[in-house]
Amino acid sequence: MTQPDDLTLRARMATEVPAGLLAHIDRVVALTDRLAALHGLDVPLARLMAQGHDLLRAVPDAELLARAEARGLAIDPVERDVPVILHGPLGALELRDRFAIDDPRVLDAIRWHTTGHPDVTPEAWAMFIADKVEPHKLEGWPALQTVLDAALGADGRAPSLERAALRYLDLRQDEAVREHQQIHPMATLTRNHLLRRLA
Ligand SMILES: [Fe+2]
Ligand SMILES: [Fe+2]
Repeated sequence: MTQPDDLTLRARMATEVPAGLLAHIDRVVALTDRLAALHGLDVPLARLMAQGHDLLRAVPDAELLARAEARGLAIDPVERDVPVILHGPLGALELRDRFAIDDPRVLDAIRWHTTGHPDVTPEAWAMFIADKVEPHKLEGWPALQTVLDAALGADGRAPSLERAALRYLDLRQDEAVREHQQIHPMATLTRNHLLRRLA
């Protein structure tokens, strides 16, 4: 089986992903496409990452934990308390096993799309940012406009996906502190990496 393109993957996902989630994915694909084109990236690659990213987002927490345990995944304590984080790593494995996605760039982007990761591709950052600031998310949390502005260069500086990702991780960290939420260690590692890169 050859690796599908994003439209073929969408058609197959549509039979198992709820309509509301599919609409979110469509918005993320559209914004990823725009960001990837603006930044001169591989648009089909970025679209495929976006299309696959939330395959398992609607799977309940207990089921995510059960699937992670069945696969012998190393489960971080934060993931045990907030199992929704597992939809990224488990989704990557299921896209590989059931949907013939075999490009490691795509699988890594999806694996780490909740927390970010220091070593992902620029296309992965385009998808990461689009996922966080697609129109409905922006409507719910207007501070995210600064993330989108950094990615588009609408803040008077050169457009930068890494600057946008750092801005997002800053906002999330501030929120987590305010709300007394745990912070995933990979989000912290990624934020430290971006702080050094952009210093
Ligand atoms: Fe997600
Ligand atoms: Fe998403």
